[in-house]
Order: sequence, then C-alpha cells, then structure tokens
Amino acid sequence: MCGIIGYCGPRAAAPILIEGLKRLEYRGYDSAGINVEHDGAFQLIKRAGKINDLRAHVPEDLPGHTGIGHTRWATHGSVTDTNAHPHTDPTGAVTIVHNGIIENYQALKNRLEAEGHVFVTETDSEVVAHLVADMYDGDLEKAVKEAVSLVKGTYGIVAMHIDEPGHLVGARNGSPLVLGVGDGEMFLASDVTAIIAHTKQVVYIEDGEVVSLTADGYHTTDLRNNTVVKEIDHVSWELEEIEKAGFPHFMEKEIFEQPESIARALKGRIDPEYATGHLGGLNLTNRELLDINRVKILAAGTSYHAGMVAAYVLESLARIPASAELASELRYRNPIVERNSLYFATSQSGETADTLYAMREVQRKGGRVLGICNVVGSTIARESDGGVYIHSGPEIAVASTKAFTSQLTALYLFALIMGRMRDMSYEQGRRFVEALEAVPQQIQQILDDTMPIQALARKYARCENFLFLGRGINYPVALEAALKLKEVSYIHAEGYSAAEIKHGPIALINPDTPSFFIVPDDGLRDKVINNMKEVKARSGPVIALAVEGDHEVALIADDVIYVPKANELMYPFLMVVPTQLFGYYCALERGCNVDQPRNLAKSVTVE
Ligand code: G6P
Repeated sequence: MCGIIGYCGPRAAAPILIEGLKRLEYRGYDSAGINVEHDGAFQLIKRAGKINDLRAHVPEDLPGHTGIGHTRWATHGSVTDTNAHPHTDPTGAVTIVHNGIIENYQALKNRLEAEGHVFVTETDSEVVAHLVADMYDGDLEKAVKEAVSLVKGTYGIVAMHIDEPGHLVGARNGSPLVLGVGDGEMFLASDVTAIIAHTKQVVYIEDGEVVSLTADGYHTTDLRNNTVVKEIDHVSWELEEIEKAGFPHFMEKEIFEQPESIARALKGRIDPEYATGHLGGLNLTNRELLDINRVKILAAGTSYHAGMVAAYVLESLARIPASAELASELRYRNPIVERNSLYFATSQSGETADTLYAMREVQRKGGRVLGICNVVGSTIARESDGGVYIHSGPEIAVASTKAFTSQLTALYLFALIMGRMRDMSYEQGRRFVEALEAVPQQIQQILDDTMPIQALARKYARCENFLFLGRGINYPVALEAALKLKEVSYIHAEGYSAAEIKHGPIALINPDTPSFFIVPDDGLRDKVINNMKEVKARSGPVIALAVEGDHEVALIADDVIYVPKANELMYPFLMVVPTQLFGYYCALERGCNVDQPRNLAKSVTVE
C-alpha cells in the first residue's frame, strides 16, 4: 500500500528518496513521485508506473537536500501522472504526501472550491495540500496541525513549505509514520525498511502526534501543541535481510528461509522440564490463563488462515473453544466480548487496518487482545495488551509465506501452554514438542528437492481454474494454497473442504480444472480419498499432496507430491510449503511479477 519517505540533511535528497521508494516497492503501488526543494523552488517529478520509470525522469544530479517521496496505491482517482503524489496547493508553495483516506474530502473540497481553489487531481489527498496552504501564516507545523484537525479519516502525512527550506512536518492518524534519526540528517517514512540503510535509530510516531524535523533535530507534539516525549528505538533488522541474497525473487527466498524462521520463532520458547511452551510477552499469569474459556484470533488474508489452523490446534490440545474471525467482519458486527475470552490480533505487518480496528473495538469493549506480529514496533504490536513476536525477519514479497508458518509456530506454542495447563499430560506435551521441533528439518527435506513441484507447475500453469481441497486442520491449508496461487499467478483458484465439493463445486469439475487434494495420513485420509475418486470419476485431473509411503494415493491421482511423515498436527506446516512453491513456480511459468502482483499491497492500511 502507499509508501512515504522524507529526507532532510546534508546529502542530495533525490537518490535517497528514490532508494527509499525502491525499498517500499514491496508494499504494492501503481505510481510514484518525489519533490525536492532547491534554492527556493520545488522540483516535482511524478509518474504512473514503476519507480524505474520515475528514476528515468529524475536527473542524476538533481540538486536539493530536503525532499519527500511517495508510492501510491490508488484508492480515489485512477492511476495517472497527475494523481500520483506529492501534491501541491495551487500556488505550489506547499507540497505533501499522504497515506490513508480522507473520508470528508468531498465536503472539504466543495468548501475550498467555493472559496476559489482549483483542484487538479481526482485524489482525496490533494485537499490536504490546499488546507495546509490555507492555514499557513509563516509556521508550517501550526498549519499542518490546523489542517489535520479538519480532516476525518486516516492519514500519515509529510508536508514541506517553500518558505521553510530544510524543514519537514509529519502527522499521523491511523497510517504508520516513523522518524529515522541519523547523524546530522533525519528521515521520515511509513516503514522502517525505507530507512534502515541509513539509520537504525527510530521514533515511532503515534496517532494524534506531529513531528517537526530539520537536519539537526526534531520535536514531537500532539495536536494541542503539548510536547510529547518519545523514546528512540533500535531496529534489529539488518540491511541484508531486506535484500535477495542471491535468490531471483523475495518470495522464493522467503519460502526457503522457513526452516530457519520457524526455528527462530521456537528459540528459547520451549520449557523441556515441564514439556510446555514459554511465551514471555503474554503478560498473563498462569491463573489468568486458567480463567480463559474462549480464544478468538482476529486476522486478514494469510494470517486469517494461520488463525484457522491454530484454532483447530487449540481446541484439540487445550479443549478451549477457539475460532478465527475475519477482522473486517468482526468490527462491524457489534461483537460480543466476554470477560474470559482472549483475543489474538494476528498480523505479519502489524499495520493491517481491518485487524487494527477490530482489535481496538474489542479493547474498547474491555476485551484483552494480544498481538502476534512480525514487525517489531508496529501499531498492533504497540497497542495490544501483550503478545508474541514471530521473528520471521522482514517479509518483503507481497504474498505471505514464511510469516504463515511462523504465526503457526507462535500459536502452536500458545496451544501447548494452554494444553499443558488442562488436558495434556507431560508425555503428550513432550511428544508435541518433539514433533514441533522436527518441523524445520522436515521442511528442509521438502526444499531440498523441488524438481517434482517445478514439473507440476510446468504441467498445469496454463490452466485457468483450480480447486484446492483439504479437510480438518488442512482445510485452511487448502484455502491458503488457493490464495497463494491466485495472488501470484492470477489463476482462478478456490479452496474448499474436500467434503463440501459434493454440495456445489463438483459442478465445476472438467478435464481442464485440476483438483489439488491435501491428503495427510490422519483420520480423514480415507474420506479425502473417496472425494478424489469422485473427481476422477468426472474426468477431473487430480493432484495429491500426500505422505511418503502412501502408494494407494498414487493409484488414483494423476500426480503426487510427497511430504515427510509427521505428527498429524504438524501437517499444515509440511503441506503448505509445496503449495507455496507451486504458486511461485506457476507464476514464473506465466511470466508474472511474483514479488509485486498486480493490484495487491503487502500492508493494507486502509479499510
Ligand atoms: C494483505 C496482504 C496479504 C496479507 C494480508 C494480511 O492483503 O497482501 O498477503 O495476508 O494483507 O496482512 P497482515 O500483515 O495483517 O498479516
């Protein structure tokens, strides 16, 4: 989704802004632009299309030491050069970049137009530039505060004024903004990845706060001008982690990182003496954990699928009613928040608006919400009542892969803790720990030979429709597999419970529509095999993802991919990896932009 970068310091701003925008590419965007101040004039360059197109229009020696840049993911107005940010007021004295949605922009625009303002874009953001210019009487910080006080909606904004060279003002409400504190230089960005090449000292700006910065310093205030004292945080991510390390795409790199990222999510979190887990950030005593009688996992997209798997594990290990809820739906349902329910806001980015707002709604009703996040210092991580970092390392590809398996790891550990407090014996706990600790190595085995999956992708990548079918704990894996394939290869794919196909989807079966069955060796295996036969009987191609040694499956399916034998609760880890690879290889076969699929955003910070 939209990205922001701002710079003031001694260096040439343009290359820093362009490089920052490149680092934000992964969030998804459709146009980009920069505006750099030099000698009392702005140099505004913006283009629909990729950053490389923009770069081609930026002179290499563009002078100027202060500037702002933006990647736009269109919401209001089509994808055109004009609608790209930065925007200016009609006189060109004020320039702004904006993430989020100004909900009352039409009313504000009508009023400004009545006063004679002429608008040149179709965006909601342009009103902010006009408002700041309207309020300006020699103090940009004051003008920004007055302008945003009139705005309803969400924003991360950075503004510059031509009369205040070397000065940037940022404001936040609902869209992330982080200040980077350098040595004699300052940065503002929507995401730390844009600035960690320059500094790891950051200050997270909160909703309702305004930051004013020059090369030498900054100060933070609220909208009423009260000083807000902020701590400087240290980002632990290394620059290499946001680079491709020899892989052609981030998606492949991230799939292959999973043995390591799962091991990292487990590190220091197993208590062998009591055969249980140890999650320090829960902020709950054992007595409080014992009182919990329902768990709800709030999430979106891939994180929601991880939540569905985890709910199954929680119910089976701890016998606590558990469910995953689409955050976007829960928020507007006037949710019933019970005293002894525990909520998890599960989000890789920690910035997904749907999940964040659902979390706030539950908290407003007095519910306790813990975060399961990857991005340290993200809004959900900061606002939750405790939680667990999954430590996947930066996930750059838009399609989420390693975050899914690390979210499972964190939630499985929680299920283990809850299970060991209730139904699970020491011996059961020990076996579960052993099975979980074996997962990284088992995934490595899958990754060591991807040839069969590549061959499968070559065979089927031209199909236009796919069904993914699984049952029980692997039903969410089927949903995730379908999501991955459609996200990166644009093949239409549906995920279903294998049992459900007879209730409708079986009408879709034909020789051009493959059905991809997930067939673990659990209690539902024979049922799934029956469903496979039903598809075969209707001339549908059948692919099976089965467990090594299951020869019967090979007699029915047209193609079989095998995963190592494991504890049945661990199959979601092992089954999802080949489907991630299948999606990736299909996308390559179809020549798709794997890391930045069309229309998608990595972190969806609008509703
Ligand atoms: C976007 C991304 C998905 C992701 C979802 C939830 O739609 O494209 O890949 O699963 O948001 O993201 P989160 O950061 O909250 O896990």
